[in-house]
Formats: sequence, C-alpha cells, structure tokens
Amino acid sequence: MTISSDVATFDLKQALAPNRLQGLWKMMTGFRLIYVMATLSLGIAAISKTATYLLLRYFIDKVLGTNAPLSKLILVGLGFVGLALLESGFTFLSGWLAAKTAEGTALRMRNYLYDHIQRLSFSYHDKIQTGELIQRATSDVEAVRRFFADQAIGLGRIVVLFIVNFIAIAKLNWSLAWRSVLVVPVLVIISYFFFGKVSKRYQAYQEQEARLSTTLQENLSGVRVVKAFARQDFERQKFEEDNWEKFLRGRHLLFMHSLYWPSSDILAGAQMLGGFVLGAIMAIRGEITVGTYMAYSGMVIWIIWPMRNLGRLIVQMSTGLVSYNRVAEIVKEEREALDVGDYQPQGPYRGEIVFDHVSFAYEEGQPVLDDISFHCLPGQSVALLGSTGSGKTSLVNLLPRFYDYTAGSITLDGVELKRYPRQYLRSQIGIVEQEPFLFSRTIRENIAYGVGRRISDEEVFAAARAAAIHDVILSFPDGYNTLVGERGVTLSGGQKQRIAIARALLRDPRILILDDATSSVDPETEGDIRAALRRLMAGRTTFIIAHRIQSVMNADQILVMDKGRIIQRGDHASLMAEAGPYRRIYEMQARIEEELADELESSVD
Ligand code: CTP
Ligand code: MG
Repeated sequence: MTISSDVATFDLKQALAPNRLQGLWKMMTGFRLIYVMATLSLGIAAISKTATYLLLRYFIDKVLGTNAPLSKLILVGLGFVGLALLESGFTFLSGWLAAKTAEGTALRMRNYLYDHIQRLSFSYHDKIQTGELIQRATSDVEAVRRFFADQAIGLGRIVVLFIVNFIAIAKLNWSLAWRSVLVVPVLVIISYFFFGKVSKRYQAYQEQEARLSTTLQENLSGVRVVKAFARQDFERQKFEEDNWEKFLRGRHLLFMHSLYWPSSDILAGAQMLGGFVLGAIMAIRGEITVGTYMAYSGMVIWIIWPMRNLGRLIVQMSTGLVSYNRVAEIVKEEREALDVGDYQPQGPYRGEIVFDHVSFAYEEGQPVLDDISFHCLPGQSVALLGSTGSGKTSLVNLLPRFYDYTAGSITLDGVELKRYPRQYLRSQIGIVEQEPFLFSRTIRENIAYGVGRRISDEEVFAAARAAAIHDVILSFPDGYNTLVGERGVTLSGGQKQRIAIARALLRDPRILILDDATSSVDPETEGDIRAALRRLMAGRTTFIIAHRIQSVMNADQILVMDKGRIIQRGDHASLMAEAGPYRRIYEMQARIEEELADELESSVD
C-alpha cells in the first residue's frame, strides 16, 4: 500500500495545534486530497439525486400526457437509470475515499504512538498508568478514525444535501423554498444546545467505563493476591459498584437521547407535512405544476430528514475532538533522546567509572541518593549491599542513563556520563533487572533479545550454560523453542532470573549489572553461576547487588548502603576487620545458617 511510506516518516508532532479541528486537519496530511475528493463525490451524488427529481418533474409536466415519441420516453428512462448509477457510484466512492483516509490516518497514529510510547522516559512511565496508555492508543485512536470515516463525512453530507436541494427548490419556487426550511434553524439550535449537555454526560460515561476496565485489569493481574487474601467478595462488590455506576450513567444518557429523538422527529415531520400541504395547495391553485410538486416533495425530504442526525453527529464529533486531545497529550511528551550526545565514543569503552559526590532524586525534595563517591577501575567488580529501599537499584540505573543524576558527576573512561548518547551506553551495558520481564515468545528469542545481529545456537547455549539454565531448558518439551508465558511453560522465579542472566551475557557487555539477579536461585546453583560469571567477567566491570554475603564477598569493592548513602566500604577482609554493619550482617547470616543446619540435623535424627 502507498501509505506505508508516510507511516514511517510522518511525525505526529506536526499535527499538534491549539485548535483541535486544525489539529485533525493536520493529522490528515497526505490524505487531504483524497478527503477533498470524498467530499466532491458526495456533492456529485447529491446533485444526481436532486437531478432525478428534476427529471421526474420534466417527465410529469412535459412528457406525460403529451404524445411524446417513444424515443423520448426511452431517453428519459435512460436518464433515470444513468442518474441512479451516478448517485450510487459516487456515494460508494465518497464512502470508500473517506474510509481510506480514516483507516490510513488511524494506522499511522497507532504506529506512531506505539513507537513514541516506547521512547518516552522512565520517569514518564513511572507515573502514567499502563491502562491509560492502552486506552489512548486504541479506543481514542478509534474515536478519531470514526471522526474521519463517519462523522465529518456525515456532517458534510447533511450540509451538501441541504445546499443542493435548497437551491433546486428555490429555483423552482422561492416562497415554497423558504417556508420549507423554517424549522431548520430551530433544529440546529436544539441539536447544538441539547447535545452540548449530552456531551458532558457522555464524557462522564466514558470515564466510568475507563474506571471499570482499570478495576477489571487490576483484578486480573492481581488475581493471585486476591485469592491469597480471600478478598473475592470485596473485589466483587467493588466491581459491582463501579458497574452499577456505569449502568446509571448509561441510563441517563439514553434517557436524554430518548427525549431528543421524538422532539426532533416531530419537528422534522411537522415541517415536511407542512411543506407537502403548502405545495399541494399551491399546485391546486395552479401556482406550481404537478411535476414541480412531485419533485418538491421528493427533495424536501432530503433537506429535512438528514437534519435529525445533526445532533448525534455533533455529539460524536465532540468525542472525536476529546480523543484528539487525549492522543495529543501523549504526543506532546518529550522523547528520551537516544542518539544525542556531544561525545562520540570510538569503539567500546574500558569501563572505568567514577562517582563524584553524586546525588539523585525521583521527585524534587526527596533525595534517594546522597553524596555518593567511589572509584571503580576497568574490570573491577563492585558489590552493593544494603537494606531494601537504600537506593541500590537507583544507583545502578544511573549508569545506562535510565534516569539522570541531579548533582555531582559520574564519569565513564574519564568522560562525563551525560555527554554519551544513551543508545551507545545501553548497547554496552548488560543489565539483569531485579524483576526480569520475559516476553511471550520462545525461550531462544528471549535470550537472543536485542543483540542486533544473527546469533548462532552455540552462542545461545553458551550463555544459557553460564547462567546454569541450559539443562533446565533442554528438559522442556520443545527445548529452546518452548514458549514462555500463557501459551507455554510457566517459569519459576529462579528460572526467569537465569534466563535474564543468559540474555544479559549474550550481549557481551563491557559493564554487567546484576540487580539481585540470583535472589530466587538456591545457594548451590548460585555458586555455579558465580563461578561461571567469574570466568566470563574477567576484564569487565561488574556491579552486583545482593542480600547474601556469599554473593558479594568476592567483589573487589563492597559498598554498604543505607538511606541513599554509602556507610561503609572496602573488600571483604577489611570490612570483616572493623566493627560495623558489614560484620554485623555477616554474623547474623552465619548464625541463621547455623541454626538452620542445626534444625535440619535434629529433624533428621
Ligand atoms: N523510588 C522512587 N521512584 C522509583 C523507584 C524508587 O521514588 N521509580 C524510591 C523508593 O521508594 C525508595 C528509594 O527510591 O525509597 C530507593 O529505591 P531503590 O533504589 O529501588 O532501593 P533498593 O536499594 O534497590 O531496594 P531493594 O533492595 O528493595 O531493591
Ligand atoms: Mg532494588
């Protein structure tokens, strides 16, 4: 299709405009001509319809009752057929062109949003709800699509039919013409004000719908917690309350609608009836011909009857405009610049990292890291140990520039981190997140994720072996082609972590970050992984976050953190030599293990 090329290039940011209609117009870039053609087709269709009535008039007045030759009759007959074909053909064409515009614009919007959302910063994603983003990228885009496909074109149709038929009637008889549209201003005013009210109700209804789907979504993803705490009744009640509220709002909306329809129908009906009667009287008095009367009674329907839809269209268009705003809000958000940086590094980095009085806060005024300084040589391993919430994850997340530090300086190979393009940093940092996420794809795809080149099986196996997960994968029915998640195997926490480790290793990173990467792995397996890592990580800089002393004791440098500060540092031997938190943690863990061993022994006896 032709649109695929603009999908890639069209920047929705260009469509941002303070005026929503203007914004929608800009959004149609590349389709405007098609849309104008759709409107023109609409006009041709309307003119053909009106011409049919005029031909009818001619037929009644000038052909019928005269001794017209057969050839004239045939000609008129052909005229009717031709006009009918013309009308249906152009009606179809206008619908098709409008649909093409609408589908094309929506396709482009969805693609753009999907791409855009992925490029927004971590802080943005921390704040916004996933459900909200999904709603905007789907149902709001859908509302904009309908705006182009049905509503704008529908409104155009009403206007075109009105103009064409009114002109035609006015040409036939002016006094009949103006009397036939007396009710139109009233209909327009009623539609406008009445549906201004309904529009608010509609918004309220949609908000409630969004609330209901959030409730549903949360319950489904938290279904284990709900069951574990036996809160089904509470959750059901909450859902029922939300659902009831939606019902009430929906009922109110329908009530308003049911008030509108009869009144607009009565008005439109009365107007048409009045017109018929007036026309008939004029025809009887001989002021207009019978043919004119017949043509008139056909055309007046097409002036008045479509007007009834005006109110509905105005409401629906306003939802389209609201949705444009909701989409524009996301589009406005600044993307995280990936390849911008005034330092263009040549080749891979060595991995020397210096933190110098670094502070960081997610929210202003709530420091999470405070005055952090340390020096890590290329190839060294740094371990972070500390209570939960002490800022370990926050510290390592500064390295790939997931977040930018607020004070102090971090240098990588002597160059300030903020000068590196994010893309470059991330391409050489392997990170095993605290809560690794695996896609619903095969295990192999998950391990090879994001490497950016063809990977041989051997490489995948080697990474999996190092992460002590190779044998486990082979024991699955489809081996490396086993699907992860809903349609495939359900992995344990430790298995997920080990696949995430394999994924990080396969990237062959200069810097490896293991954020609590072995917390769900048993000590024995963890030992295997540690041994493999030691071999693999020779010459690479490694950050290890762990709660178990065994996981950190071999590190070149151990930083003990508390409340965003480093409270103790050194290697295992030097830290054991001083009385402090590290030795306390060590002794506590040793004591717990002894007690466990004792209990095991006594239970065996
Ligand atoms: N925090 C925040 N916004 C985030 C992430 C964390 O405000 N997006 C806050 C947390 O509330 C916490 C502090 O930052 O008070 C430090 O969090 P983190 O670095 O994640 O702590 P860790 O030391 O990694 O804790 P854990 O051992 O539990 O992983
Ligand atoms: Mg953490």
